[in-house]
Amino acid sequence: MKGKFAILVSVLFCVSASYVRADGSDIVAGPWLQNVTETEFTVMWMTEGKCLSWIEIAPDDGTPFEASERQDVYRSVAGKRWTGTSHAVRVTGLEPGESYRYRILVREVVDDSNPYGSLYGKEYTSSKRGTVTTMDYSAGECRFSMVNDMHDRKDLYRDLTAPMSDSDPDFLLLNGDIVSYATSIDTVINHTFDPIRELAADIPVVFARGNHEGRGADSYKVADLFRTPTGEFYYLFRQGPVAFVVLDGGEDKPDSSVEYSGLADYDAYREAELAWLAEAVKDPLFAGAPVKVAVCHIPTLRFPDSWYSQIWINEKFNPILNSAGVDLMLSGHHHRHFLVEAGECGNDFPILANSNTERLDFVSDGSQISIGIHDRDNELTHTYTFSLQ
Ligand SMILES: [Fe+2]
Repeated sequence: MKGKFAILVSVLFCVSASYVRADGSDIVAGPWLQNVTETEFTVMWMTEGKCLSWIEIAPDDGTPFEASERQDVYRSVAGKRWTGTSHAVRVTGLEPGESYRYRILVREVVDDSNPYGSLYGKEYTSSKRGTVTTMDYSAGECRFSMVNDMHDRKDLYRDLTAPMSDSDPDFLLLNGDIVSYATSIDTVINHTFDPIRELAADIPVVFARGNHEGRGADSYKVADLFRTPTGEFYYLFRQGPVAFVVLDGGEDKPDSSVEYSGLADYDAYREAELAWLAEAVKDPLFAGAPVKVAVCHIPTLRFPDSWYSQIWINEKFNPILNSAGVDLMLSGHHHRHFLVEAGECGNDFPILANSNTERLDFVSDGSQISIGIHDRDNELTHTYTFSLQ
Protein backbone atom coordinates (compact mmCIF):
# COMPACT_ATOMS: atom_id res chain seq x y z
CA MET A 1 0.00 0.00 0.00
CA LYS A 2 2.84 2.35 0.80
CA GLY A 3 4.25 1.89 -2.69
CA LYS A 4 0.90 2.64 -4.31
CA PHE A 5 0.52 5.76 -2.17
CA ALA A 6 3.98 7.00 -3.21
CA ILE A 7 3.10 6.50 -6.88
CA LEU A 8 -0.19 8.34 -6.42
CA VAL A 9 1.58 11.29 -4.79
CA SER A 10 4.10 11.52 -7.64
CA VAL A 11 1.30 11.33 -10.23
CA LEU A 12 -0.58 14.09 -8.44
CA PHE A 13 2.51 16.27 -8.39
CA CYS A 14 3.03 15.81 -12.14
CA VAL A 15 -0.64 16.60 -12.90
CA SER A 16 -0.44 19.70 -10.74
CA ALA A 17 2.85 20.97 -12.14
CA SER A 18 1.88 20.45 -15.77
CA TYR A 19 -1.11 22.80 -15.54
CA VAL A 20 0.56 25.87 -14.06
CA ARG A 21 -0.72 29.05 -15.69
CA ALA A 22 -1.06 32.69 -14.79
CA ASP A 23 -4.62 33.86 -15.35
CA GLY A 24 -7.63 34.07 -13.10
CA SER A 25 -10.22 32.54 -15.36
CA ASP A 26 -11.65 30.23 -12.73
CA ILE A 27 -12.42 33.08 -10.33
CA VAL A 28 -15.93 34.07 -11.22
CA ALA A 29 -16.54 36.69 -8.52
CA GLY A 30 -14.42 38.82 -6.23
CA PRO A 31 -12.23 39.28 -4.44
CA TRP A 32 -14.01 41.51 -1.96
CA LEU A 33 -12.80 42.62 1.47
CA GLN A 34 -14.77 41.97 4.65
CA ASN A 35 -14.54 42.60 8.37
CA VAL A 36 -11.47 44.81 8.30
CA THR A 37 -10.40 45.81 11.80
CA GLU A 38 -7.14 47.10 13.24
CA THR A 39 -5.67 43.60 13.29
CA GLU A 40 -7.48 41.46 10.71
CA PHE A 41 -9.25 41.28 7.39
CA THR A 42 -11.06 38.66 5.34
CA VAL A 43 -10.85 38.25 1.57
CA MET A 44 -13.71 36.48 -0.21
CA TRP A 45 -14.06 35.18 -3.77
CA MET A 46 -15.84 32.53 -5.79
CA THR A 47 -14.40 29.93 -8.13
CA GLU A 48 -16.36 28.22 -10.86
CA GLY A 49 -15.37 24.74 -9.74
CA LYS A 50 -14.22 23.17 -6.51
CA CYS A 51 -10.74 24.42 -5.62
CA LEU A 52 -8.22 24.64 -2.87
CA SER A 53 -7.62 28.37 -2.99
CA TRP A 54 -5.61 30.59 -0.70
CA ILE A 55 -3.84 33.93 -0.58
CA GLU A 56 -0.32 35.16 -0.30
CA ILE A 57 0.09 38.37 1.65
CA ALA A 58 3.05 40.71 1.60
CA PRO A 59 3.85 44.14 3.03
CA ASP A 60 2.90 47.01 0.74
CA ASP A 61 6.50 48.18 0.59
CA GLY A 62 6.89 48.86 -3.11
CA THR A 63 8.93 45.75 -3.83
CA PRO A 64 7.85 43.34 -6.59
CA PHE A 65 5.39 40.84 -5.11
CA GLU A 66 7.53 37.89 -6.10
CA ALA A 67 10.56 39.40 -4.37
CA SER A 68 8.77 40.40 -1.18
CA GLU A 69 8.49 38.53 2.07
CA ARG A 70 5.29 36.58 1.43
CA GLN A 71 3.08 34.48 3.66
CA ASP A 72 0.52 31.85 2.61
CA VAL A 73 -2.82 32.06 4.40
CA TYR A 74 -5.55 29.44 4.01
CA ARG A 75 -9.07 29.06 5.26
CA SER A 76 -9.16 26.09 7.58
CA VAL A 77 -12.24 24.54 9.15
CA ALA A 78 -11.54 22.58 12.35
CA GLY A 79 -7.97 21.95 11.31
CA LYS A 80 -8.53 21.16 7.64
CA ARG A 81 -7.98 23.42 4.66
CA TRP A 82 -11.19 24.37 2.94
CA THR A 83 -12.04 23.26 -0.58
CA GLY A 84 -15.10 24.46 -2.43
CA THR A 85 -16.33 27.25 -4.66
CA SER A 86 -16.96 29.92 -2.00
CA HIS A 87 -13.70 31.11 -0.48
CA ALA A 88 -13.08 33.30 2.56
CA VAL A 89 -9.59 33.67 3.97
CA ARG A 90 -9.19 35.48 7.27
CA VAL A 91 -5.85 37.11 8.05
CA THR A 92 -5.13 38.00 11.67
CA GLY A 93 -2.31 39.45 13.75
CA LEU A 94 -1.90 42.60 11.67
CA GLU A 95 -0.90 46.13 12.62
CA PRO A 96 -3.30 49.12 12.69
CA GLY A 97 -3.26 51.45 9.72
CA GLU A 98 -0.87 49.26 7.73
CA SER A 99 -1.25 48.30 4.09
CA TYR A 100 -0.85 44.73 2.89
CA ARG A 101 -0.86 43.31 -0.62
CA TYR A 102 -2.50 40.00 -1.37
CA ARG A 103 -2.94 37.73 -4.35
CA ILE A 104 -5.01 34.61 -4.86
CA LEU A 105 -3.69 31.18 -5.70
CA VAL A 106 -5.86 28.37 -7.02
CA ARG A 107 -5.49 24.60 -7.16
CA GLU A 108 -8.35 22.89 -8.92
CA VAL A 109 -9.85 19.84 -7.21
CA VAL A 110 -10.55 17.24 -9.89
CA ASP A 111 -11.51 14.30 -7.69
CA ASP A 112 -11.57 14.14 -3.91
CA SER A 113 -13.61 10.96 -3.60
CA ASN A 114 -10.59 9.06 -2.25
CA PRO A 115 -10.18 10.01 1.42
CA TYR A 116 -6.45 9.26 1.17
CA GLY A 117 -5.56 11.24 -1.93
CA SER A 118 -7.22 14.11 -3.78
CA LEU A 119 -6.58 14.53 -7.48
CA TYR A 120 -5.69 18.11 -8.35
CA GLY A 121 -5.82 19.81 -11.74
CA LYS A 122 -4.33 23.11 -12.72
CA GLU A 123 -2.61 25.27 -10.15
CA TYR A 124 -1.88 28.89 -10.79
CA THR A 125 -1.40 32.32 -9.33
CA SER A 126 -4.46 34.37 -10.21
CA SER A 127 -4.28 37.84 -11.65
CA LYS A 128 -6.84 38.75 -8.98
CA ARG A 129 -5.11 40.70 -6.26
CA GLY A 130 -5.49 43.77 -4.12
CA THR A 131 -4.18 45.95 -1.35
CA VAL A 132 -5.91 46.34 1.99
CA THR A 133 -5.27 48.90 4.71
CA THR A 134 -6.29 47.92 8.22
CA MET A 135 -8.43 50.26 10.28
CA ASP A 136 -6.72 52.61 12.69
CA TYR A 137 -8.76 53.82 15.65
CA SER A 138 -6.23 56.58 16.33
CA ALA A 139 -6.44 57.94 12.77
CA GLY A 140 -7.35 61.61 12.57
CA GLU A 141 -10.43 61.13 10.43
CA CYS A 142 -12.87 58.65 9.00
CA ARG A 143 -14.03 58.86 5.38
CA PHE A 144 -16.43 56.60 3.55
CA SER A 145 -19.06 56.52 0.83
CA MET A 146 -22.53 54.99 1.01
CA VAL A 147 -25.07 53.82 -1.53
CA ASN A 148 -28.39 52.09 -0.93
CA ASP A 149 -31.51 50.85 -2.68
CA MET A 150 -29.78 50.06 -5.97
CA HIS A 151 -32.41 47.35 -6.56
CA ASP A 152 -30.44 45.52 -9.26
CA ARG A 153 -29.58 48.66 -11.28
CA LYS A 154 -25.98 47.73 -11.94
CA ASP A 155 -25.19 50.61 -14.28
CA LEU A 156 -26.38 53.20 -11.77
CA TYR A 157 -24.51 51.44 -8.98
CA ARG A 158 -21.33 51.38 -11.07
CA ASP A 159 -21.65 55.06 -11.99
CA LEU A 160 -22.26 56.18 -8.42
CA THR A 161 -19.29 54.29 -7.03
CA ALA A 162 -16.84 54.96 -9.87
CA PRO A 163 -15.51 58.25 -8.37
CA MET A 164 -14.47 56.35 -5.25
CA SER A 165 -11.38 55.03 -7.00
CA ASP A 166 -10.03 58.58 -6.87
CA SER A 167 -11.25 59.53 -3.39
CA ASP A 168 -9.75 56.42 -1.74
CA PRO A 169 -12.20 56.18 1.19
CA ASP A 170 -11.74 53.94 4.22
CA PHE A 171 -14.66 51.76 3.11
CA LEU A 172 -17.84 51.50 1.06
CA LEU A 173 -21.08 51.17 2.99
CA LEU A 174 -23.91 49.30 1.25
CA ASN A 175 -26.99 50.36 3.17
CA GLY A 176 -29.43 47.73 2.02
CA ASP A 177 -31.66 46.73 -0.88
CA ILE A 178 -28.77 46.44 -3.30
CA VAL A 179 -30.89 43.70 -4.87
CA SER A 180 -34.67 43.46 -4.97
CA TYR A 181 -34.80 39.72 -4.35
CA ALA A 182 -32.45 36.91 -3.44
CA THR A 183 -34.16 34.38 -5.66
CA SER A 184 -30.69 33.27 -6.82
CA ILE A 185 -27.54 33.81 -4.81
CA ASP A 186 -25.56 34.09 -8.05
CA THR A 187 -27.70 37.07 -8.99
CA VAL A 188 -27.08 38.61 -5.57
CA ILE A 189 -23.32 38.18 -6.02
CA ASN A 190 -23.46 39.53 -9.54
CA HIS A 191 -25.44 42.61 -8.59
CA THR A 192 -23.64 43.30 -5.31
CA PHE A 193 -19.97 42.74 -6.14
CA ASP A 194 -19.55 42.77 -9.92
CA PRO A 195 -20.33 46.51 -10.34
CA ILE A 196 -17.65 47.35 -7.74
CA ARG A 197 -15.10 44.64 -8.57
CA GLU A 198 -12.18 47.05 -8.96
CA LEU A 199 -13.03 48.84 -5.71
CA ALA A 200 -13.90 45.82 -3.61
CA ALA A 201 -10.48 44.24 -4.00
CA ASP A 202 -8.92 47.20 -2.20
CA ILE A 203 -11.68 48.89 -0.16
CA PRO A 204 -13.67 47.10 2.57
CA VAL A 205 -17.33 46.56 1.79
CA VAL A 206 -19.53 47.12 4.84
CA PHE A 207 -23.05 45.73 4.52
CA ALA A 208 -26.25 46.69 6.28
CA ARG A 209 -29.03 44.36 5.19
CA GLY A 210 -32.15 45.80 3.65
CA ASN A 211 -35.59 44.28 3.85
CA HIS A 212 -35.35 43.14 0.23
CA GLU A 213 -32.26 41.01 0.82
CA GLY A 214 -34.48 38.87 3.04
CA ARG A 215 -36.76 37.95 0.16
CA GLY A 216 -36.42 34.97 -2.18
CA ALA A 217 -35.46 31.31 -1.97
CA ASP A 218 -31.72 32.01 -1.63
CA SER A 219 -32.09 34.72 1.03
CA TYR A 220 -30.67 32.27 3.58
CA LYS A 221 -27.38 32.34 1.66
CA VAL A 222 -26.91 36.11 1.72
CA ALA A 223 -25.18 36.00 5.11
CA ASP A 224 -22.53 33.71 3.60
CA LEU A 225 -21.36 36.55 1.35
CA PHE A 226 -20.29 38.74 4.25
CA ARG A 227 -18.21 38.53 7.40
CA THR A 228 -19.01 40.59 10.49
CA PRO A 229 -17.62 40.59 14.04
CA THR A 230 -20.82 39.02 15.39
CA GLY A 231 -21.66 36.71 12.49
CA GLU A 232 -24.97 38.58 12.30
CA PHE A 233 -26.23 41.48 10.21
CA TYR A 234 -25.93 43.67 13.32
CA TYR A 235 -22.48 44.52 14.64
CA LEU A 236 -20.02 47.22 15.68
CA PHE A 237 -16.92 48.51 13.95
CA ARG A 238 -14.72 51.56 14.12
CA GLN A 239 -12.42 53.67 11.98
CA GLY A 240 -10.55 56.70 13.30
CA PRO A 241 -12.72 58.76 15.67
CA VAL A 242 -15.99 57.19 14.47
CA ALA A 243 -17.65 54.06 15.84
CA PHE A 244 -20.53 52.49 13.96
CA VAL A 245 -23.43 50.36 15.11
CA VAL A 246 -24.93 48.58 12.13
CA LEU A 247 -28.54 47.48 12.62
CA ASP A 248 -31.04 45.37 10.73
CA GLY A 249 -34.71 46.32 10.78
CA GLY A 250 -35.67 43.05 9.11
CA GLU A 251 -38.79 42.90 6.98
CA ASP A 252 -41.03 45.93 6.95
CA LYS A 253 -44.41 44.25 7.42
CA PRO A 254 -45.74 42.05 10.26
CA ASP A 255 -44.47 38.47 10.29
CA SER A 256 -48.00 37.25 9.63
CA SER A 257 -48.22 39.12 6.30
CA VAL A 258 -49.30 36.81 3.51
CA GLU A 259 -46.31 37.85 1.34
CA TYR A 260 -43.95 36.03 3.70
CA SER A 261 -45.64 32.65 3.29
CA GLY A 262 -45.37 31.80 6.97
CA LEU A 263 -41.55 32.10 6.92
CA ALA A 264 -41.04 35.47 8.61
CA ASP A 265 -39.75 35.33 12.18
CA TYR A 266 -38.51 38.87 12.47
CA ASP A 267 -40.12 39.79 15.78
CA ALA A 268 -37.95 37.22 17.55
CA TYR A 269 -34.96 38.27 15.45
CA ARG A 270 -35.35 41.94 16.37
CA GLU A 271 -35.83 41.06 20.03
CA ALA A 272 -32.50 39.19 19.99
CA GLU A 273 -30.91 42.12 18.18
CA LEU A 274 -32.36 44.52 20.75
CA ALA A 275 -30.82 42.53 23.61
CA TRP A 276 -27.49 42.56 21.77
CA LEU A 277 -27.76 46.31 21.12
CA ALA A 278 -28.34 47.13 24.79
CA GLU A 279 -24.98 45.55 25.64
CA ALA A 280 -23.10 46.45 22.46
CA VAL A 281 -23.36 50.20 23.02
CA LYS A 282 -21.42 49.70 26.28
CA ASP A 283 -18.50 48.15 24.41
CA PRO A 284 -15.47 50.47 24.74
CA LEU A 285 -15.03 50.25 20.98
CA PHE A 286 -18.32 52.11 20.66
CA ALA A 287 -18.77 53.90 23.99
CA GLY A 288 -15.23 55.28 23.89
CA ALA A 289 -15.40 56.71 20.38
CA PRO A 290 -15.69 60.49 19.97
CA VAL A 291 -18.27 60.07 17.19
CA LYS A 292 -21.07 57.51 17.13
CA VAL A 293 -23.00 56.69 13.98
CA ALA A 294 -25.92 54.28 13.67
CA VAL A 295 -26.56 52.59 10.33
CA CYS A 296 -29.97 51.08 9.61
CA HIS A 297 -31.54 50.56 6.19
CA ILE A 298 -34.98 51.34 7.58
CA PRO A 299 -34.68 54.62 9.50
CA THR A 300 -35.91 54.52 13.09
CA LEU A 301 -38.37 57.33 12.54
CA ARG A 302 -42.11 57.46 12.68
CA PHE A 303 -44.19 58.87 9.89
CA PRO A 304 -48.01 58.84 9.95
CA ASP A 305 -47.83 56.08 7.33
CA SER A 306 -44.93 54.11 8.84
CA TRP A 307 -45.26 50.36 8.52
CA TYR A 308 -44.93 47.78 11.24
CA SER A 309 -41.18 47.26 11.65
CA GLN A 310 -40.40 50.96 11.36
CA ILE A 311 -42.66 51.64 14.31
CA TRP A 312 -41.07 48.69 16.15
CA ILE A 313 -37.52 49.94 15.73
CA ASN A 314 -38.59 53.53 16.37
CA GLU A 315 -40.00 52.54 19.73
CA LYS A 316 -37.33 50.04 20.79
CA PHE A 317 -34.03 50.96 19.11
CA ASN A 318 -34.21 54.71 19.64
CA PRO A 319 -34.18 54.78 23.46
CA ILE A 320 -30.97 52.73 23.49
CA LEU A 321 -29.36 54.76 20.72
CA ASN A 322 -30.37 57.97 22.50
CA SER A 323 -28.83 56.99 25.80
CA ALA A 324 -25.72 55.75 24.01
CA GLY A 325 -25.15 59.25 22.61
CA VAL A 326 -25.52 58.46 18.92
CA ASP A 327 -24.66 61.51 16.82
CA LEU A 328 -26.25 60.55 13.50
CA MET A 329 -28.18 57.76 11.80
CA LEU A 330 -27.68 56.93 8.12
CA SER A 331 -30.50 55.16 6.31
CA GLY A 332 -32.19 54.52 2.99
CA HIS A 333 -35.34 52.52 2.25
CA HIS A 334 -37.64 55.41 1.32
CA HIS A 335 -36.05 56.02 -2.08
CA ARG A 336 -35.85 59.73 -1.47
CA HIS A 337 -33.51 62.07 0.30
CA PHE A 338 -34.52 63.69 3.56
CA LEU A 339 -33.27 64.72 6.98
CA VAL A 340 -35.27 64.18 10.16
CA GLU A 341 -33.97 66.55 12.82
CA ALA A 342 -33.22 65.34 16.32
CA GLY A 343 -36.26 65.29 18.56
CA GLU A 344 -38.92 64.92 15.88
CA CYS A 345 -40.01 61.36 16.60
CA GLY A 346 -38.22 59.96 19.61
CA ASN A 347 -34.76 60.37 18.10
CA ASP A 348 -32.20 62.47 19.96
CA PHE A 349 -29.99 62.37 16.86
CA PRO A 350 -30.57 63.48 13.27
CA ILE A 351 -31.57 60.78 10.79
CA LEU A 352 -30.35 61.23 7.23
CA ALA A 353 -31.97 59.06 4.56
CA ASN A 354 -30.14 58.79 1.26
CA SER A 355 -32.09 58.47 -1.97
CA ASN A 356 -31.91 55.48 -4.32
CA THR A 357 -30.07 57.46 -6.99
CA GLU A 358 -27.26 59.20 -5.11
CA ARG A 359 -24.00 58.52 -3.27
CA LEU A 360 -23.40 59.89 0.20
CA ASP A 361 -19.82 60.85 1.13
CA PHE A 362 -19.02 61.10 4.84
CA VAL A 363 -16.02 62.71 6.54
CA SER A 364 -15.46 63.23 10.25
CA ASP A 365 -12.42 64.48 12.10
CA GLY A 366 -14.01 63.90 15.49
CA SER A 367 -15.23 67.47 15.94
CA GLN A 368 -17.81 67.51 13.15
CA ILE A 369 -19.39 65.37 10.47
CA SER A 370 -19.42 66.64 6.90
CA ILE A 371 -21.73 65.04 4.37
CA GLY A 372 -21.71 65.59 0.61
CA ILE A 373 -24.32 63.88 -1.55
CA HIS A 374 -23.62 63.35 -5.26
CA ASP A 375 -25.80 62.33 -8.16
CA ARG A 376 -24.97 59.92 -10.97
CA ASP A 377 -22.95 62.58 -12.78
CA ASN A 378 -20.99 63.15 -9.57
CA GLU A 379 -22.56 66.57 -9.17
CA LEU A 380 -22.93 67.72 -5.58
CA THR A 381 -26.64 67.91 -4.71
CA HIS A 382 -26.76 68.32 -0.91
CA THR A 383 -24.33 69.14 1.88
CA TYR A 384 -24.63 68.91 5.65
CA THR A 385 -22.36 69.75 8.52
CA PHE A 386 -23.11 68.37 11.97
CA SER A 387 -21.11 70.00 14.72
CA LEU A 388 -20.23 67.65 17.57
CA GLN A 389 -18.93 70.23 20.02
FE1 LIG B 1 -35.94 48.91 1.71
